[in-house]
Amino acid sequence: MAEKEIVLSGIRPTGNLHLGNYFGAVKNFIKMQHDTNAYFFIADYHSLTTHPTPGDLHGNVKQVLAEYLATGLDPELATIYVQSDLPETAELYLLLNMNAYIGELERTTSFKDKVRKQPENVNAGLLTYPVLMAADILIHKAKKVPVGKDQEQNLEMARKFAKRFNRIYNVEYFDEPIPYNFGEELVKVPGLDGSGKMGKSEGNGLYLIDDEKTIRKKVMKAKTDAGPTEPNSEKPQEIVNLFTLANIVSKPETVKFFNEAYSDCSIRYGDFKKQLAEDIVQFTMPIRERILSISADDAYLSKVVKMGAEKARESAVKTLKEVREIIGFRHF
Ligand code: TYM
Repeated sequence: MAEKEIVLSGIRPTGNLHLGNYFGAVKNFIKMQHDTNAYFFIADYHSLTTHPTPGDLHGNVKQVLAEYLATGLDPELATIYVQSDLPETAELYLLLNMNAYIGELERTTSFKDKVRKQPENVNAGLLTYPVLMAADILIHKAKKVPVGKDQEQNLEMARKFAKRFNRIYNVEYFDEPIPYNFGEELVKVPGLDGSGKMGKSEGNGLYLIDDEKTIRKKVMKAKTDAGPTEPNSEKPQEIVNLFTLANIVSKPETVKFFNEAYSDCSIRYGDFKKQLAEDIVQFTMPIRERILSISADDAYLSKVVKMGAEKARESAVKTLKEVREIIGFRHF
């Protein structure tokens, strides 16, 4: 039987799951878990760059795990684990760090962003973040990585480190992992504040755990302009964002209706937002209910991560053993 393709994705447990996480990454992962060898993990080592308290760290991991399971991630199909349950990842990270150069790490967009946004906490973990991410992927020799557009550069770094390893040791060991979105453009879900991206640290998220009232309130408050005054005029960024969200959650005929209304200047943003909020609520409410019941089930959550760690360690132990041999570590 042909070996199933290895697919991997991950999330930092630094806040609740929002629509960006879902439509950027999880949705595609869920589609792929049926016919690939799928790994999904919670990147708790990565989250240490933001210095969570010991109490928060565990609670956050548990919450994100429950939220992912509620979206349809299936522990019988995919290997679901917590990153820190796989110490092999940390060792591969150490080994890959030896061939990652300060200059290239300093030049990554996400690092430069962090330096700008949090100058008081530019730690070495932030600098080598892409190396740890490469270790996550390469430890299972994953080929496809369903992620949103924001992770494109990190994936490019992972390919670079994989290729470099092969070149230095003159082997064809690691494949180059590719960001994967079923042949379509990688998705970037916008925020409702007129900014480019919905994100946890941006504070503009629509969360799967939000109740109905909160979602309606957030959408109704979304930034808009005074409205079009000339037929067929170009949409400003905040209106493009609303349409991008509508494209993701609403029916095509709904989007068409409001697009036409925009073009002939008859659009009423209040109606558009009401409809958008309604469509988001329809989508998120069943997930929210499942989150609430799964997060109350400690026994189930603990069973899932134990099973996941065992399965994940099989491939991780194998890869690390082979990598150590390639590098030249020998037993006496
Ligand atoms: P994180 O935790 O920021 O986000 C998790 C996933 O959600 C996607 N995403 C988005 N997609 C589209 N639009 C948005 N507004 C949006 N916001 C978030 C992200 O692309 C991501 O796929 N570094 C990763 C976690 C990670 C990882 C990995 C991912 C660590 N190791 C290995 C894949 C493979 C991160 O911080 O994602």
